[in-house]
Amino acid sequence: MALLEILEFPDPRLRTKAKPIGSVSDRHRQLADDMLETMYDAPGIGLAATQVDVHERLIVIDVSSERNDPLVLINPEVTVLGHEMRSYEEGCLSVPEYQDTVKRPANVQVSALDRHGKPFVIQPDELLAVCVQHEIDHLNGKLFVDYLSSLKRQRLRSKLKKRQRA
Ligand code: NI
Repeated sequence: MALLEILEFPDPRLRTKAKPIGSVSDRHRQLADDMLETMYDAPGIGLAATQVDVHERLIVIDVSSERNDPLVLINPEVTVLGHEMRSYEEGCLSVPEYQDTVKRPANVQVSALDRHGKPFVIQPDELLAVCVQHEIDHLNGKLFVDYLSSLKRQRLRSKLKKRQRA
């Protein structure tokens, strides 16, 4: 196990589109374990491989309050069910010390492979639905701040650059 370095906005590597994983191997299982350790340590509730500069479609999530329900999703695909949208206060380990409200589809279905390459389908709700969509965005090079106004994003960019220099 190892703690991985998390890239921070506006690092251009966060804009990379991750590639699908052809065959799930021990390397991916090791990556998932390292990402879970990094996520719990941070602490956060989700982490995408993009955020640790690995551009393959793998995310890890744990929204349980006991922090004992790790979820590994490989090649996750989201299908939106219905038109209902929900607003949630989001944060991101790649955008430290910042939260803002993002509106996303409330009901989704997610299909993915587990750490053994076995397909599964979930219909997450509430926080898990938000988190899965947020993490899949990362795999597509998208950040939650992209949903905000460009003025807000510009302010945040200068704030974080200042912080990174310090
Ligand atoms: Ni994030």
